[in-house]
Amino acid sequence: MTEQILKTHNLSKAFGGVCAVKDFNMEINAGRIRGIIGPNGAGKTTIFNLLSRIYKEDEGTIEFAGQDVTSKSQIEVARMGLSRTFQNTRLFVGLNVLDNVKVALDHDGKYSLFSALFKLPFRNKQERMIKEKAMSCLELLNLDEFAKLSPSNLSYGYQRRVEIARALANDPKVLMLDEPAAGLNPEETSMLMDFIKDIQAKYPNLAILVIEHRMELIMNLCDHIYVQDSGLTIAEGTPAEIQSNPKVLAAYLGEEE
Ligand SMILES: Nc1ncnc2c1ncn2[C@@H]1O[C@H](COP(=O)(O)OP(=O)(O)OP(=O)(O)O)[C@@H](O)[C@H]1O
Ligand SMILES: [Mg+2]
Repeated sequence: MTEQILKTHNLSKAFGGVCAVKDFNMEINAGRIRGIIGPNGAGKTTIFNLLSRIYKEDEGTIEFAGQDVTSKSQIEVARMGLSRTFQNTRLFVGLNVLDNVKVALDHDGKYSLFSALFKLPFRNKQERMIKEKAMSCLELLNLDEFAKLSPSNLSYGYQRRVEIARALANDPKVLMLDEPAAGLNPEETSMLMDFIKDIQAKYPNLAILVIEHRMELIMNLCDHIYVQDSGLTIAEGTPAEIQSNPKVLAAYLGEEE
């Protein structure tokens, strides 16, 4: 339960002259939830893009599941169990909920283009397995009743949950959520919070890293929070420590009021 799963050392990334992330040091253990907060443009999403290897760092290291992954690709780290959602919903509206989750499982290498083209028996078996796995993920998260619906028929709060379900379908080691409550009303936000707590209970070894603007969500869910401002970590600690930190109040909480 206390195994360290993800750790960065002096992770840095600049775009032109803009330093998006500077010397970012974080770590997270299996089974824990950590948060990243900070004002717009603080570099939060850039951290996720570095961790998921969408961006290559300028400096620093990332250790994931005991390996240095700085030379690995997006697909490689995803296969190793690093999964994420994006700030904007990215569900396929032309696919139903079940198929949206199946998409996440469709690339395990055994289901080749060749077997797909020639409809080999192997493909059918593989397809059945993918369907079963996607369905059991939806069942576990109490979303199975929506399996045949288009995401566009769901409320935004449920669309967010389906996205999270898709990110969980591969049984990742780390789940990264980029502003999961963006666009949700207070009631939906509170339901999402319960949903994330439920995930923690159902996936006890999963480490969750969440970026959020909604203070109540981050303070309620996380046991440790990193506060980013202009690329730098200006504070870190427990929710209580963060809430009483004058630097944080000035840079972020003050701005909210
Ligand atoms: N691909 C890119 N090219 C150029 N600049 C970028 C790129 N990605 C991010 N940036 C810049 O890096 C800085 C940090 O952006 P980032 O998206 O990480 O912030 P954020 O904390 O996620 O903000 P928000 O709360 O608005 O989502 C910003 O100044 C942004 O303009
Ligand atoms: Mg962002």
